[in-house]
Amino acid sequence: MKILVIHGPNLDKLGQREIDVYGKISLAEIDAALKKLGKELGTEVEAFQFAGEGEIVGKIGAASKSYQAIVINPGAYTHYSVAIRDAVAGAGIPTIEVHLSNIYAREEFRHKSVIAPVAVGQIAGFGLGSYLLGLKAAVEYLNR
Ligand code: DQA
Repeated sequence: MKILVIHGPNLDKLGQREIDVYGKISLAEIDAALKKLGKELGTEVEAFQFAGEGEIVGKIGAASKSYQAIVINPGAYTHYSVAIRDAVAGAGIPTIEVHLSNIYAREEFRHKSVIAPVAVGQIAGFGLGSYLLGLKAAVEYLNR
């Protein structure tokens, strides 16, 4: 089993910016924790960070050739990218949406996810835990 993890824009700056919101953890630490959990769960994890919407759309579009599921934190694109939503809807493999912060406890423009209706489900508000729970959810979903 192989699971694709996609981090959206600005998540490469984790640990350096808005520490009060996102904490001190870096993206490299998140990816290392995901790979470690993946090993325990018997799945390979490959993680990528993209700033561009088109890069994310392209990666999702090609995902079914190499992966069985996607765990994605679309960052700000969550709230308005119909292109990413359409890519997820057409991916042909299940997608789990994750967020470090509780987007529903923040500014109103973050309360809407255009991705959630086409995802298997969404996990938000648990920092690194959101990603780890997302990976577990993907593996359980595939093994169900
Ligand atoms: C985020 C929440 C988004 O609203 C924001 O634009 C991000 C990060 C999160 O993980 O909490 O970049 O997706």
